[in-house]
Amino acid sequence: MNSTNEVAKELIEEKNQIGFVIFAETQLAGKGQGKKVWESPYGGLWISLAIRPQIDLSMLGITPIISAVGIARTLEHFNINVMLKWPNDILIKHNLKKIGGILVETKVTRHFLNYLIIGIGLNINNTLDQYSIALQDHITTVYEEFNKEINLTTLLHEIIHQIEESFETLRSDGAQPLLKEWKQVDNILGMNLTIQTLEKVYQGKAIDISPYGQLILEVKDVGKVTISSGTVILPTK
Ligand code: BTN
Repeated sequence: MNSTNEVAKELIEEKNQIGFVIFAETQLAGKGQGKKVWESPYGGLWISLAIRPQIDLSMLGITPIISAVGIARTLEHFNINVMLKWPNDILIKHNLKKIGGILVETKVTRHFLNYLIIGIGLNINNTLDQYSIALQDHITTVYEEFNKEINLTTLLHEIIHQIEESFETLRSDGAQPLLKEWKQVDNILGMNLTIQTLEKVYQGKAIDISPYGQLILEVKDVGKVTISSGTVILPTK
């Protein structure tokens, strides 16, 4: 399979399906944020959840955040402590190396949410030598860190359950409880950093995440800037 997100999109658009999960053992053309290639060797969890939640369109930006919170909760159940880097990176807590990411794709037609595809990639039972040399310094896998294997089907079920819980909380109590959870495992709030967006580069202090999932940056001589998407570049020590 090329990309679970792409297969999900085809099933929705050509076969009118919704409310399903696609699981791939490996992807030939996995997609990451910013049109990057997402390496997806055997042993990882490569999935897409295709849903049409009853949420206000203004809430779309919070969906990667609440999905990440559900994933963090799941991994903690497996005794894997992680931290979250806005907007969609999942890092191993003890060395802050990336073990996963989320790619949410949506389609809105005339103010109606057609679909939400939550693509999740987690490096689980893989070894580092399955990845390109260029990536090996920046990422890690659960197996490399903890020397244990996780049953991918069990993990998949738990992730679905926890993401459903997150959406349920969003519906019943709004974004605040989920943002509170995010902040307990957040890796960038309070830091001075650089953010590369499609339009420009910002430098400032990350001070908060809005109820719509945007990062709020305090920029010198400018004030608060609200950023919807971008790549966070942390200062090197
Ligand atoms: C990121 O850049 O951090 C997001 C990576 C998301 C990768 C997952 S793997 C399953 C799904 N299918 C894809 O093609 N991409 C996502």
